[in-house]
Formats: sequence, structure tokens, C-alpha cells
Amino acid sequence: MHRRVLDWLEERTGVESAIKHFFYEDIPESSGWHQVFGSVAMFAFLVQALTGILLSLNYAATPGEAYDSLRYIMTQVTAGPLIRGMHHWAASLMIIVVVLHMIQVFLWGAYKRPREATWMSGVVLLLLTLAYGLSGYLLPWDNRAYWGTVVATQIAELAPGLGPYMLRLLGSDGTSIGAVTFTRFYAAHVLLLPPLTMLLIGLHVYLVRRHGVAPTPADEGRPKKKFYPQQVAMDTVAIFVWFAVLMGMAILARVPLGHVADPTDLSFVPRPEWYFLFLFQFLTWFEGPLEVVGAVILPTLAIVALLLVPFVDRGKMAFVRQRTGALAVVILGPFSGAG
Ligand code: HEM
Repeated sequence: MHRRVLDWLEERTGVESAIKHFFYEDIPESSGWHQVFGSVAMFAFLVQALTGILLSLNYAATPGEAYDSLRYIMTQVTAGPLIRGMHHWAASLMIIVVVLHMIQVFLWGAYKRPREATWMSGVVLLLLTLAYGLSGYLLPWDNRAYWGTVVATQIAELAPGLGPYMLRLLGSDGTSIGAVTFTRFYAAHVLLLPPLTMLLIGLHVYLVRRHGVAPTPADEGRPKKKFYPQQVAMDTVAIFVWFAVLMGMAILARVPLGHVADPTDLSFVPRPEWYFLFLFQFLTWFEGPLEVVGAVILPTLAIVALLLVPFVDRGKMAFVRQRTGALAVVILGPFSGAG
């Protein structure tokens, strides 16, 4: 019976052979735990989409009502605090896992020819992940959200030659924000970014499949293995661990919701989420007319440098232990930011 249903489906849709094709892909013998992060990032995106949809069922997307609707979610909605906690903490945990994935790809040199486009689509995915953080930050409409976003719009205003256009795009006058900025951030967060991310994840995974997972020199002359069962099992364990950490945080850690946004409270000291703190650090180094260097020029150069990594390092694939330059960048990189 079960076989007949499957045969019926297969004949009409080809779904069974598509799934088999996906799971029985050839991967290098050296594949293993270090390659679990991409799958975890994909799972994180699914969690964000699902909890985001659940939040939107009770969230009122106007500056006048957003804050109260969040209080309502936190006090009246069944599992409201859990869902909000999951969405809040998964944002941070997704950034962590995407960065770990990028570090793994970087250390192994898996961006080298012919995987340059895979790497570049990954950089765009990293930027999209950060864009969710930036646009979502305003949505609680508390003082943190309000003043943090005022700073963000002021940074955008510094863009050489583009400042006034950036402000118009963000719907701000550079000193305060209102319904226009709010609506644009909300629209970006729920209407623009999700389909863009889905498209890019589709492209990214298509490119990974097109070129196959990058082999190491140890794979030369060795037979390949299949994605299923070993790698699928490792990916699943990693997803479980990530999800367990998320649930622990969603249950135990408090999600901030300060006082409702007060545009007259000039004493409020804005602080961004931890993943934008390095930008804040840049800003403190450059003051006055040099502010634009820290706020716009250095971050833009960093993104360009990241995009160009595969074109700068064009050497042959090597073992991780031989990639001392890459190891030094990963280990010393954070210190150069903190110094
Ligand atoms: C939302 C973010 C992302 C998702 C969902 C994602 C997903 C994936 C998946 C599922 C794989 C295949 C298995 C693996 O190696 O893990 C992969 C491979 C790859 N990713 Fe990503 N990725 C993301 C971000 C990035 C970033 C930020 C970069 C680099 C800047 C990147 C560069 C690559 C490269 C070069 C490969 C091929 C690795 C190889 O062949 O061994 N990805 N990604």
C-alpha cells in the first residue's frame, strides 16, 4: 500500500527520485563535523521565519501600537514570551553560526576556484542576516529601539555623496524618526528580506551542489562517500545542539523591553546589539570630520575585502594546518578590532 502511494507520487511528481538525488549526493571522504554549520544556518533561518510569522499574528506594526502589542504578546498570548524569546535569541545564534560557517570555509580555503560565486553569495547572505538585526531592532519601539535607530540613520547620513538620499530612503530627517522610518524598517524586515534570503539561499545551495563540497588534498585518489547517512546524521546532531541552546536561552534569559520610545529623552545613551558593537568601536576612534572613515569607509572596505577573498588567494587547496596565513587572520582579526 505504502509503496503504491509512493509509486503514484513518483510517477506524477518525481518527488521520490528528487529526494534520493539530494540525499545520495557524492561528498569527499574528508567531509565531517566541520561542515555542519551551513545546514544549521539554514535551520536557523527556518526558525526565524516560523517564529516571525507567529509574532506577526499579534504584533501591531505602527509606532503608536507596536510597544503595547509586544507587552500583550509578553503577558497575554499563549507561549508569547517563548516565541518572542526564540525569535530574539535565534537572531544572535544565527549570526554566530553564519560567522562560524564563514570561518570554516575560510580556514579550509573552500572559496577557491571554482567556488568564488558560492563565497560571494555567502557574503551577501551574511549582510542580509545583519540587515534583519538592524531592521528588527526598531520594531519593539522602546527607547533602546528608537535611539539605536536614530544613530543608525545618522551613520547612513554620513555616506559620502549619498547621505541625503540615504536619509530619504530611511524616511528620517537625521535627528528623529517616525511612522515613515518605522514602516520602511518593518516592510524590509518582513516583506523584502525574507524572499531575498530564500532566493539567495537557493542560489548558494545550488552553487554548492554544482561544484560539490570542496575536497582537501587528502581526498585525491580516494573514493567519495554519500551525503546520507553520515553527514546527514552529523548535521542533525548539530541542529539539535543549536536548538537546545536556543530553547535554553528562550526559557531562561529575559528579552529586553524598556520604556516606550520617548523622542524627547535626550539623556538616553543608545547601544547597539553586540554584533554591531565593532561598528560603535570604529566610531569612537574617529571623531569630527573623520567620523565618516569609521562609520562608512572602513566597513565598506571590509565588505569589499571579504568579497574579494577568493580573487586575492588563488593558490591550490592545502591542508588547514598548512594555511597559517588564514589561521592568523582568524585568530588575530578580533584583537585588531578590540585594540
Ligand atoms: C544564511 C547564511 C548561509 C547559509 C544558510 C549557508 C548555507 C550553506 C550550506 C548548506 C552549505 C553546504 C554545506 C557546508 O559546507 O556547510 C554551504 C557551503 C558554502 N558556503 Fe554557505 N551559507 C550561508 C552563509 C555563507 C557565508 C557568510 C559564506 C562566506 C562568506 C558562505 C560560503 C560558502 C562556501 C564557499 C561554501 C562551499 C563550501 C565547500 O564546498 O566546502 N556561506 N553554505
